[in-house]
Amino acid sequence: MTFQNESTNERNASQAGTVTLGDLTINRLGFGAMRLPTNGFQGPPRDAEIGRAVLRRAVELGVNHIDTAAFYQSRDGSVRANTLIREALYPYPPDLVIATKVGPVLGPNGPAQGTAADLRVAVEDNLKTLGLERLDLVYLRIGMMEPPHGESLAERFEALAAMREEGLIRHLGLSNVDTAHLAEARAIAPVVAVQNHFHIAKRDEVAVLDACTADGIAFAPFFPLGGGRSDINDNRQARVAARHGATVSQVALAWLLALSPVTLAIPGTGSLVHLEENIAAGLITLTPEDIADLA
Ligand SMILES: NC(=O)c1ccc[n+]([C@@H]2O[C@H](COP(=O)([O-])OP(=O)(O)OC[C@H]3O[C@@H](n4cnc5c(N)ncnc54)[C@H](OP(=O)(O)O)[C@@H]3O)[C@@H](O)[C@H]2O)c1
Repeated sequence: MTFQNESTNERNASQAGTVTLGDLTINRLGFGAMRLPTNGFQGPPRDAEIGRAVLRRAVELGVNHIDTAAFYQSRDGSVRANTLIREALYPYPPDLVIATKVGPVLGPNGPAQGTAADLRVAVEDNLKTLGLERLDLVYLRIGMMEPPHGESLAERFEALAAMREEGLIRHLGLSNVDTAHLAEARAIAPVVAVQNHFHIAKRDEVAVLDACTADGIAFAPFFPLGGGRSDINDNRQARVAARHGATVSQVALAWLLALSPVTLAIPGTGSLVHLEENIAAGLITLTPEDIADLA
């Protein structure tokens, strides 16, 4: 993992510096694709043309890391994140890293945990819908909303490690895990990134972030804006935002980026206005006073 800051003042994802994922280098400000097909999970469809425009603008603004999943789709299945990404951006810019996740399977009662056997189907679905021969980064996503403490991921991670050996996957990551899961997986194959539920108003999984920081593993918090929840917009955040002429959402992203050189921001939006705002968060340098206010 390396970290560097750019020195210009233009709104660009490179303003937030870079991290490495194995042999890949990406800007620390990226883009989460879950909100493109629907504003949430399995909700009503959003306009596909706007989704494609958001993706193209993200790349214009220097985004070279998009986080997706084959199961990010509207409830009726008519709009899918991976399809939008391929339609908007294929042939992909050479530096674009598309990260995806496998593990959950969608059933009639919503998402459920898949088995090791389901993982190959999911990897093949991602390869097909993204139009790729190899996936840059595949996270094994386990559990439901909290890490499933005490549950072994070995069988599933070994299945993904085998697909990496086959050449279908370049790098492996983990999502929704604790430090024991991270250690268990790393004994099987290298882990270049972790994606856990973490944001300015939810900091309880800090042990995983600390482990990632210590070992140079990228940490990409999911719900970096609290999933759009308003309760992260408290007075302290508003005070810091006013000092920078920024929005509270921008402060939430700047806070994540300031937390550790390994954090990546993957804010999700289906809005061109919010996209511009989120990328501009990379221009904010929080002061020690700001950090203390947000502590
Ligand atoms: N591993 C996992 O289990 C997991 C779970 C959830 C998400 N993820 C990944 O993490 C990414 C980020 O999470 P997320 O998209 O769920 O949540 P998020 O980034 O925390 O918040 C997205 C929500 O905030 C709104 N928003 C975005 N930018 C804003 C701004 N500048 N001002 C005000 N509101 C703004 C969006 O609405 P608009 O679209 O209208 O802007 C949307 O409702 C996802 O896209 C996905 O790639 C992973």
